[in-house]
Order: sequence, then structure tokens, then C-alpha cells
Amino acid sequence: TVIDWNPIAAEKAGYKHFMQKEIFEQPRAIVDTLRSVVDLNREVLQVPELNLDAGLIGKIKKIYLVACGTSYHACLVGKYMLEGVCRVPVEVDLASEFRYRDPLLGEDALLIVVSQSGETADTRAALKEGMEKGAHCRAIVNVVGSSLARMAQGVLYTHAGPEIGVASTKAFTTQVVAFYLLALYWARTDGTLNQAGFSKYLKELLTLPRKLEEVLDRADVLRDWARHFRKVDHFLYLGRGILYPIALEGALKLKEISYVHAEGYAAGEMKHGPIALIDENMPVLVLAQKGDLYEKMLSNVQEVRARGGRVLAVVEGEPDPRLGEEAWQFTVPEAGKWLAPVVFSVPLQLLAYYVADLRGTDVDQPRNLAKSVTVE
Ligand code: G6P
Repeated sequence: TVIDWNPIAAEKAGYKHFMQKEIFEQPRAIVDTLRSVVDLNREVLQVPELNLDAGLIGKIKKIYLVACGTSYHACLVGKYMLEGVCRVPVEVDLASEFRYRDPLLGEDALLIVVSQSGETADTRAALKEGMEKGAHCRAIVNVVGSSLARMAQGVLYTHAGPEIGVASTKAFTTQVVAFYLLALYWARTDGTLNQAGFSKYLKELLTLPRKLEEVLDRADVLRDWARHFRKVDHFLYLGRGILYPIALEGALKLKEISYVHAEGYAAGEMKHGPIALIDENMPVLVLAQKGDLYEKMLSNVQEVRARGGRVLAVVEGEPDPRLGEEAWQFTVPEAGKWLAPVVFSVPLQLLAYYVADLRGTDVDQPRNLAKSVTVE
């Protein structure tokens, strides 16, 4: 007998696409990333390869985070964490801008480039620029031994494993976790965070994979959303605070693989432009994190509804009738202020995935896009 052996199908481990498989691998990818640096018995972080000791941390006046594409969105999340937890000023740049804008870097600056592949041309050039200007240069990278990993003066690896789908998913969420680990390491090293505070943050991280499983178990709900909205041509994604970059990333996922026009916006900016576009043909997806800014998000929702816009809400904790009876709601577990971006990302990845699949696009290799852009 001849066994029908297809190595590609075998690698997909029963999933229809690599992207789908990679979305479902995220709990494991996060466990691997945290295990690589956390000593669970002693509750300490060990990041020798990063080459960032207390002496250097004490000297740094400003951190620059630089990347392209999805990795750039991880940097935007990293800024909230590093400024919020470590109280150190952070600037975020697109690599293609940074390399040409003659940035003011010197010995008191730490440049961290972020990349899944470690090969992106603009990011490599940005790192080179940083080195030439005398900044301390580190990299957060997924691929071991890649160009950026070799060029930088220290590396923090994400342990997403190989990512095949062009649209980045598990690499992104592990980058966010890497920033969380970096922020904790920094704050613990310079004394901003005591051991008790550190333990509390560590516990939140340890419960994260389970929370992602819980979201993934309800993937079918997002498939229903996709069925209902698959013919829509324009989408607006709104987020605030640390979820603003997640709105950008969610919109990017939809653009990349389903070729649906989607814009991510800071919810507070809606009134300065995008509100003009809202009608029944432009659904609005809101990221509703409970807490300080929740009421403000509810008033955005009111404004959308008043203009006949349809609302899709990813909500933290319990569903909320104040979002409107007709609103589509998907709940995510509370994961804490800094890790919320991870749990909110997953439903947006799944929505983009199912819309693309229903529209029949080439999910893993979308037209005109490359997994890694090694030339300018
Ligand atoms: C390409 C990929 C994106 C990725 C970006 C940056 O555009 O399609 O998914 O986010 O490059 O890649 P990097 O490997 O540097 O993270």
C-alpha cells in the first residue's frame, strides 16, 4: 500500500492553516518564553544573554524601541509597560523612520530593536545607526542566531517557535510577554519594585496561559462573528491606553489576510475624524477594558450607536448591557493592567483568521506580503 504522506499537512498538525495552528499554540509559546528566564523556585528573573546589569540600568536616561509591522505594535505596548512599571522615559519609532531621522542618541540611551525574524532590513539598519551613535543596543528576537541577535550587544529571546504564517500571531504575544519580563527585571533590579510586588506580577503572568486557553475554547463565537460580518468592506477598531496598540494590531491582522480595510484608532480620537465615516456599513469594534477609561469607552459606543453603527465589543469580565442590546459581545478574562493586551489580542486574531478563511484568501501567504522583508 502507498501511504499518502504530505509533509506540509503533517506540520499543520490537523489545523487547516499554519496561522490557525500558531494562534492555538500561544499558551505554550508564552509558557516557554517565561520559563526561559524565570526561576520559579526562587522567584527571580535571570536574563544573562540580555547583558543588562544594575550599573547600566542606573545610567540609562531614555529607552528607544524600534521595529516594523506587528513588532512595532509590540513596542507600543512595551512603552506603556516600561514607563508605567519602571518610570523610565520611552520613545517608540518605526525602523524605517528612525534610521533616517538622525535620532539624538548617546551613551545614556538604550536602543531595543524588536523582530520576529531578526532579519528585517530597516530594523537592521536602525540597530546599526544606534551602534554608530554609541547607544547601548539590545534586541528582542524570536529566531536564534539571526542577524539582529548577532549584531546586538545582548538579546532577550521570545520562544514562540517557528512562525510560518505571514501574519504574525504567537510572535507578537510573546514579544508583549518579553516586554513584561523586561519591565519586571528592570524594576526589580533598580529597586522600583520590591519582592512582594514582583511576586504579584509573576503570579499574573503564570495564570495567563490558562486564560488564553479559556479564550481559545470559545473560538466558535468569533467564527459566528466572521460569518455575520464577512462581507463588510470597512472596519474601525477602537482602543484606549495599553489597548490602543491592540486596536492597531487587530486592524492590521484583518487587512493583511482578509484584504478588508480596517483602521485602528485611539478611541479618544474618534471625534477628530473617523466619526464622519460611521454608518451601518462601517462596524466598530471596541476593546473595552474595565477600569479608569471604561466609562469613556461606553460614551464612544453611544456615539457609534447614535449614528447607526454596529458595535462589536471585546469586553473584560462580564458582558455589559450598557454596550447596547444589539451589540456583539465577546468576553475575555481579567488579566491585569499590563497583560490585558495579550488576552485582547487573541479574539482579534481569530476574527481576522475566520473572515479571511470564509472569504477564501490565501491565509498563510497573503498576496503581496512577505514573512520577512530583508530588502528595503
Ligand atoms: C513583515 C511581516 C510582518 C512582520 C514584519 C516585521 O511585514 O509580514 O508580519 O511583523 O515584517 O518583521 P519582523 O521579523 O522584524 O518582526
